[in-house]
Amino acid sequence: MPIAQQAVDGLTSVKLLAWYDVHGRELPWRMKGGRAADPYRVWLSEIMLQQTTVAAVIPYFETFTSIWPTLPLLAAAPLDDVLKRWAGLGYYSRARNLHACAQAVMHRHGGAFPAEEAALLALPGIGAYTAAAIAAIGFGQRAVVVDGNVDRVMTRLTAIDAPVSQAKPLIRAAMDQRTPARRAGDFAQAVMDLGATICTPRSPSCLLCPLADECVAHKQGRAELFPIKAPKKPKPERQAVAFVAFRPDGTVLMRQRAAKGLLGGMLELPATGWDSRAAEGFDLTGAFVTPPFAANWNNEPLSIRHVFTHFALTLHLRVTHVSETHATPDGFAWVVSENSAVPTLFQKAIDAARESTLAVGNPKASGEKRSKSR
Ligand code: ADE
Repeated sequence: MPIAQQAVDGLTSVKLLAWYDVHGRELPWRMKGGRAADPYRVWLSEIMLQQTTVAAVIPYFETFTSIWPTLPLLAAAPLDDVLKRWAGLGYYSRARNLHACAQAVMHRHGGAFPAEEAALLALPGIGAYTAAAIAAIGFGQRAVVVDGNVDRVMTRLTAIDAPVSQAKPLIRAAMDQRTPARRAGDFAQAVMDLGATICTPRSPSCLLCPLADECVAHKQGRAELFPIKAPKKPKPERQAVAFVAFRPDGTVLMRQRAAKGLLGGMLELPATGWDSRAAEGFDLTGAFVTPPFAANWNNEPLSIRHVFTHFALTLHLRVTHVSETHATPDGFAWVVSENSAVPTLFQKAIDAARESTLAVGNPKASGEKRSKSR
């Protein structure tokens, strides 16, 4: 690398670390002022932060660390308790991997995370980003950490004109060049905080940016255009019918999904398969679809839509209210969905079904006494 280039890159970390020491966010898993962070807390926060905002994660992080303050305690917890506490953070496979990872650290490493990226990468649920983040933030190793914020800051700093998917090697190289040997973890978090607070996707605050004088995109007056986005492919649409049966105490008929696959092992409403051909010729009222038991199933059009990573699902809902003595079909149970590990898709469906019955003044749903029929 030419000497002049090295000097500029060295200066980037000096300027950014000085900015971070003053403006970096105070976060519950973070140690500022050069103190070492606890690798367990770093790992937990990084798993929670995948695809979720810092603000959404903080209460979950506080709950997890107050119930399970150390890795051995989390490893010893029943998986179901972990899944319940995870509800609302989405992607339950991450919670399963979290638990499996805690157990793997117990068995392979005696309960303490290894410091090397390669050993971290071999653990369940830990990919390249998380391994680098734990090595740098939790162990002070020089590791190159690249997440979405880093993508944005680096593509702007160096005006990388290719879509992110193609620009990855250049982004990594730009971050690598600028990552200092000491305080690599603080540097990574400084780039993330810069990306979250100043170098934001829309309307970046370049006037406040400590790196504005070296930012090529800013000098060209087009910071907002980076990172370049590849044109989005539309997601395939799928449809299904789900049956929402309430008892008067508000419990809902649910069962456990198969352990493998999407939402594996989580609770589900009785439903048809999720069908991509459904848009044509599918009876969206579900009238022809066999309900879990014979009852007065509401036929009014009611649906919710949920977007998964690879497809969007419209769930058409049929709703009924039954008495507390109503038989429970095999394999099902009546559950308080809010207290159970219910995926967002089904909780949305239950909420919509409950609201629809409240809206038409259903006396059972609103908890009012029924008047005697005359
Ligand atoms: N996003 C993911 N990890 C983060 C961290 N350690 N600091 C700030 N934002 C983050």
